[in-house]
Amino acid sequence: MTSDEIRETFLSFFEQRDHQRLASAPLVPASYDPSVLLTTAGMHPLKPYFQGLEAPPHPRLTSCQKCFRTPDIDVVGTTTRHLTFFEMLGNFSIGDYFKEGAAQRAWELSIEGFGFDPEKIWVTVFEGDEELGLGLDEEAVEAWLKIGVPRERIVPCPRSENFWQAGETGPCGPCSELYYDRGLEWGTEDDLPGGDNERFLEYWNLVFMQYNQDPVGTLTPLPNQNIDTGMGLNRMALIQQGVDSIFDTDQFIPLMELGRSLATNPIDERALRILADHSRGMTFLIADGVVPSNEDRGYVLRRLMRRAIAQGHRLGFEGEFLPKYVDVVIATMGAAYPELTREHDTILRWVRAEEQGFGRTLETGLSMLDDLLAGGAVSGEDAFKLHDTYGFPIDLTTEIAGEREVPVDIAGFDALMEEQRLRSSAGAGAQERVGARQEVIRQLSEEPTDFTGYEHLEERTTVAGVLEQGGRTFVKLAASPFYAQGGGQVSDQGVVETVDGAHATVSEVLRAGEDQAVVLEGDGALKAGDTVVARVDRPARTATQANHTATHLLHAALREALGTHVRQAGSYVGPDKLRFDFTHGQRLSPDELKAVEDRVNQWVLQNDPVRPITTTLKEAQEMGAMALFGEKYGDVVRMVQIGAGDYSRELCGGTHVRSTAEIGVFKVVSEGSSASNVRRIEAVTGPEAVTLLRSHDALIREAAGELRTSPEQVPAKVADLQQQLKAAAKAGASGGANGAVDVGALANAAEEVGGARVLTSRVEVGDAKALLDATDRVKNAIGDAAIVLGAVTDGKVALIASVAPALVERGVKAGELVKVAAQVVGGGGGGRDTMAQAGGRDPEKLDDALAAARAHIESLLA
Ligand code: ALA
Repeated sequence: MTSDEIRETFLSFFEQRDHQRLASAPLVPASYDPSVLLTTAGMHPLKPYFQGLEAPPHPRLTSCQKCFRTPDIDVVGTTTRHLTFFEMLGNFSIGDYFKEGAAQRAWELSIEGFGFDPEKIWVTVFEGDEELGLGLDEEAVEAWLKIGVPRERIVPCPRSENFWQAGETGPCGPCSELYYDRGLEWGTEDDLPGGDNERFLEYWNLVFMQYNQDPVGTLTPLPNQNIDTGMGLNRMALIQQGVDSIFDTDQFIPLMELGRSLATNPIDERALRILADHSRGMTFLIADGVVPSNEDRGYVLRRLMRRAIAQGHRLGFEGEFLPKYVDVVIATMGAAYPELTREHDTILRWVRAEEQGFGRTLETGLSMLDDLLAGGAVSGEDAFKLHDTYGFPIDLTTEIAGEREVPVDIAGFDALMEEQRLRSSAGAGAQERVGARQEVIRQLSEEPTDFTGYEHLEERTTVAGVLEQGGRTFVKLAASPFYAQGGGQVSDQGVVETVDGAHATVSEVLRAGEDQAVVLEGDGALKAGDTVVARVDRPARTATQANHTATHLLHAALREALGTHVRQAGSYVGPDKLRFDFTHGQRLSPDELKAVEDRVNQWVLQNDPVRPITTTLKEAQEMGAMALFGEKYGDVVRMVQIGAGDYSRELCGGTHVRSTAEIGVFKVVSEGSSASNVRRIEAVTGPEAVTLLRSHDALIREAAGELRTSPEQVPAKVADLQQQLKAAAKAGASGGANGAVDVGALANAAEEVGGARVLTSRVEVGDAKALLDATDRVKNAIGDAAIVLGAVTDGKVALIASVAPALVERGVKAGELVKVAAQVVGGGGGGRDTMAQAGGRDPEKLDDALAAARAHIESLLA
């Protein structure tokens, strides 16, 4: 059986048994679920169904889900069975059949679909756990016995093996696993499933999902008893194809062969496996919208790419090789996953960029490592630095160090990695907050709010529920015109008024799926059943809508100008502005930015209609609608189409203008970088844009006024002034007469006092620094002396004293001189005996100050 046949056998088996077939969800989980970075199991996208937060499209479901398991990155290649990216086949029951039904179906498919000899199938069951307060899973044992599995082939296993949960928290339950017995040539009579042996191969996990693990570690029953199963497609391929390693199955053979054909160094099996696995992972991750970066998913992707590149170097691959791998992955998997073909150019673009970029880093890392190895040991810190700063994978460090028999402090490295991991994991808190919000909204009333804000900005409705919690008032309206923050668009502002005139302001609109609640501030206590008028702040909403539609136009214009690798990576749409983050590797040139701005304004002028269309996800995708990575879409979606849909169709729940001309004008305010390979554009529209342009106008007019010229002449005038300034500075530096200090004249003005040369004088300079320069030059000209110079700059007094060491010995100290002088001009200062500076507020008294300094010098030298 090929992998494609295994997939189809599984899905059609369950489809024939009344399961709805679901397409694989993206590897990037929906944004409301921050518990994992990447989808790790088939049940993941279905979590809200298991938790009872959303109704499933059908109680029985089946899917082949793309999965990625980050912890296995380092293991890949060292075993015959570990992969980072793999496909998980699953059947799911949401409150429909339970243990017996799941066991029966698994047994039937194993034997009839996959042709297993019943004698060769063993099963494990949960043996119970004191801490969880659960005993042996008798129900599961019964189910298997009923099917005819002999008692001795039903093996109880501990919690570590047979209790499954989707993360630290969330839906979970005991499980029962099916094993294939490969026979005694793979082990001994004493081997058992669940043990560490090669004889028994686990191929299917049936999870009896009936609890929710909440953060404090207690199990609470879920609303339903559910079934979640997972069969690793590649593992089944290994059994079906009678090979010893997953890397010898049909999906991997072409990738392993590619590696062999490219190698110019001796073949290293592990390196070939890493390349095969990682190239699949990177291809699928990029197709689902991940770009290489130093954070989160982007970092996972970057690690895969760099590890693969390093292995290619080890094998002596010449020239670019990741694109070749990507092409093979697409050739083998593209039929089952059309997104690979669709995103082909984007995938190639990112792998090329990383391969070129990291090629250079690899050289630097290798030479740094060489130095460390010459030192005889690699500390944890060095290994971490190589990894963190140079992106140099730890396994490469240990491998090369191992070849030269130099120890690496792995424990130290691990500790630093753990620290970093803790710094970057914030997931659980966010999930708790989402959970708490859902809970509040549900407590307010079971019936969800009817959101009417697409059509109305004002709604006469009733209060469905009120809740005071933590000093805040949560209110659920039967019908609400208020948009709740989502898809980048901020919540509406507005008011809720009662018939008797009480008035409350909406300070927040909370969303839970399709449902919502508002947080109110103001007088007048509301109660369930009250009639109210809910009113959206119209100007704010209008401005927000213009920004939202403009965001779609900007997205379209960027893809047109830069390429289809441009994907939305985040957005903010408010009444004040729009911010759009998108995947792209370089700064936009002024010409590109102008072209994009022009394009958007051209569409604005076309006055194209903006139409939301409700359709099926499938149809929308066929029409080429842009979907956001990391968003979860149901079967029925809202697609926003601009014009005839030839340049912009996006799946979007936000509010929009009715036609593009309502945007008025679109003006980019800034372009910059938001993360690596992600650019950010901020822009304004409508009145906000007019205000901005008008303020630019006012500024230029003001500048023209100052320059006594017309706005048109400002640039020429500024250039002219700059020229003059440069010339003046030059003249000043060469000591010309033009306002600069005449050193010769000053030197001549120095007088003999008590056998020493003394100069106190006022000079005309632009600033304190020029005064310092002048002092230096005068000192050079007259030699050993006591000098005090003063100047008026910017309406203030600056003073400097410089005293030759020979005079310091006679008691003349620069610090004292400036202090004496500064007192006269209402200031202070100080410094060393030979050099000191001071300032003062009173320019009128500068001459008096200099006279005071002079008197002081004379008194000391006389
Ligand atoms: N969710 C279960 C697993 O991943 C089936 O093993």
